Amino acid sequence: MKFGLKPTLLIKKRRNLIMVAFTARAHTNIALLKYWGKADQKLIIPTTTSISLTLNEFYTETTVEFNDDLANDQITLDHQPLKAKDQKKIINFLDLIRAQANINTYANVESFNHVPTAAGLASSASAFAALAGASAAAAGLDLTPADLSRLARQGSGSASRSIFGGFVQWDRGTDHQTSVAHPLQEQVDWPIQLLTVIVSDQPKKINSRGGMQNAMQNSPFYQSWVERSNALVKPMQTAINQHDLATLGKIAEQNALEMHAQNMVANPPFFYLTDISWKIINLVQELRENGLKVYATMDAGPNVKIISHPDDTEKIEDALHTILPEITIQVATPGPGLKVWQNGATHA
Ligand code: PMV
Repeated sequence: MKFGLKPTLLIKKRRNLIMVAFTARAHTNIALLKYWGKADQKLIIPTTTSISLTLNEFYTETTVEFNDDLANDQITLDHQPLKAKDQKKIINFLDLIRAQANINTYANVESFNHVPTAAGLASSASAFAALAGASAAAAGLDLTPADLSRLARQGSGSASRSIFGGFVQWDRGTDHQTSVAHPLQEQVDWPIQLLTVIVSDQPKKINSRGGMQNAMQNSPFYQSWVERSNALVKPMQTAINQHDLATLGKIAEQNALEMHAQNMVANPPFFYLTDISWKIINLVQELRENGLKVYATMDAGPNVKIISHPDDTEKIEDALHTILPEITIQVATPGPGLKVWQNGATHA
């Protein structure tokens, strides 16, 4: 027996350890180079390396406690029970934790989303990163940030990047070990922001899982997307290192449009962007022609994120409100990585 402990003593020790609740906070991230397709469905190994910016304003806070008295997993989001499909995803994820911690205890999971859920604002990224942090700690697992990134990846690919703050790269890798995110620049001390234009806060009809699968199988240009996207990794890294907003924005916009092009040419085609999204994209191009450094990026939903300089916020907001008076705009700035704390303890 390891450490010479009697089995009963070991079980007791484990019990004490795992009945402590831990809370984690993880922020969303927006991909500047997108992940849009899986080379391995089960492990969630992507076809491309992606690069993102973690955002300060949008995050998920999740508390997990493994409790011997529970007869099944109890999961709520914003005090509401989850839909069966989403519940299943969380239970599958908790099963990964249980297998790794060698326990079979059920968990109480309470999550609060400070992100419009499933509206192309990558709430699944912050959700699974927070769940990874809180559940690993509550199960007594002592994991490195890279381990947590691998773990979060198995819940939702983009969650692998939300373990870290600032600019983050998720290496596509070839297996569970090598497909992992790492920070490129954790402290972003130069002016860059994302203006999130909320076209809709309703859950999207085709989720990212289905959408990327469809594009991969049914777009005749998918392979070219993979090659072009991977070729943009180095130029994007250089733009980040040189604080070059114009180059970063241009690459990000090009990559986002190419991702959406895959969906549009898939057979059958499908669209995340609505006429309002296109109005905003056109406006961004017009503003650029007038000398502003503004660039659009869009994910698996109709919302448009405008990569821009904080000094230009008012000009961009005014222009948006002229064509879309009712539109909601949220300013998002670079944010921090995962934080985990034991309940009752104070945290930074
Ligand atoms: O990790 P998922 O399944 O939520 O997919 C994310 C897909 C995009 O947001 C469109 C791109 C990305 O890299 O975040």
